[in-house]
Amino acid sequence: MSHAPSDALRHRHQAIRAVLAARELDALIVTSLPNVLYLTNFTGSTAIVVLTAERLYFLTDFRYVTVMNEACDTPHACQGLELVTVDGSYDGALAKLLGSLKLGRVGFEAAHLTVNRHAWLTDTLARQAGVAPSLVATEGIVERARLCKDEYEVHTLREAARRLSAVAVAVLGDVHAGRTEKDLALAIDWRIRQGGFERSAFETIVASGPNGARPHARPGERRLGEGDVVVLDFGGVYDSYCVDLTRTVAVGRASARAREVYGAVREAHDSAVRAVEPGRSRFDVDGAARRVLGERGLGEAFGHGTGHGLGIEVHEDPRIVRRRADTDTRDEHLAPGMVFTIEPGAYLPDWGGVRIEDDVLVSTSGVEVLTDVTTDLLEL
Ligand code: GLY
Ligand code: MN
Ligand code: MN
Repeated sequence: MSHAPSDALRHRHQAIRAVLAARELDALIVTSLPNVLYLTNFTGSTAIVVLTAERLYFLTDFRYVTVMNEACDTPHACQGLELVTVDGSYDGALAKLLGSLKLGRVGFEAAHLTVNRHAWLTDTLARQAGVAPSLVATEGIVERARLCKDEYEVHTLREAARRLSAVAVAVLGDVHAGRTEKDLALAIDWRIRQGGFERSAFETIVASGPNGARPHARPGERRLGEGDVVVLDFGGVYDSYCVDLTRTVAVGRASARAREVYGAVREAHDSAVRAVEPGRSRFDVDGAARRVLGERGLGEAFGHGTGHGLGIEVHEDPRIVRRRADTDTRDEHLAPGMVFTIEPGAYLPDWGGVRIEDDVLVSTSGVEVLTDVTTDLLEL
């Protein structure tokens, strides 16, 4: 179980209920596990929530009944939770519950229910005894509530970033010529666990020399050599919350080209961090990084977004990207409580790459950089 206090969970339920009322929905079926966690602190592998104006029905099976019952007596209990033990199929139990509640319009998470499951539910609700609600597709109701972190989440992410920064400082001491990428990645993962994290947030990246030109390179058998530029990108999950950090270092003396590319990426990073403030467009923050790299002739070498939200998922909203005319029809302006990465990079085939990544919190007056590790080019 995660540890958001009961009061925080109650506020989250109220916020979702206000959205449901505004859309004339009597309930929301929550099938996204990160969203279930956000509403209940549940960290297991299978559950469904049905949130109504009065209750939170929690469907889970034998494997998690004990842990849910034990959580009832803790300061992070999800109050008002009604446990429904699933004995057969989850969707069968869901259909039976919905039939018994006498609801009219019930929202479901369109991004988290397959077409097959939706068809089966609709058909079963129509055929079974009881009142069949009409199922209404919804998009991102809980995800939007997750955009701005509450006090508990900010506290957790600050602590996670502090721990990841300490891991990074230790990792810098692990970089030596002769070591393979795979071996170094294993050492990083070990340090992440030693640092109090539940697990790595994604597959650790160690990309040396020309491999650095691939932003999501997988660590391989290549040995770090003198003069290599090495991208180290790793993250951890701490009390269910993800943090993410990248540093690029030189093994031995950095070449003039390495200094030049590194300097440009660092300026892009700093420029994007300075652009973060409440009310600012997320596209502006991306533009701030992109402008610097463009001016240095590295515009084409920066082919990904400047950042992504962090929280229960390692990649979540807000996306700090270029505006794409087809999908970005609305702009989310930055607001206090948003937490995201700033991670510009430059990737040059046959040469290598540079990326610098920090985690930032939008504060009431500007920005707080949560990660704290030097961005000077280190020659190790
Ligand atoms: N390697 C994943 C990320 O930094 O987003
Ligand atoms: Mn990263
Ligand atoms: Mn990242």
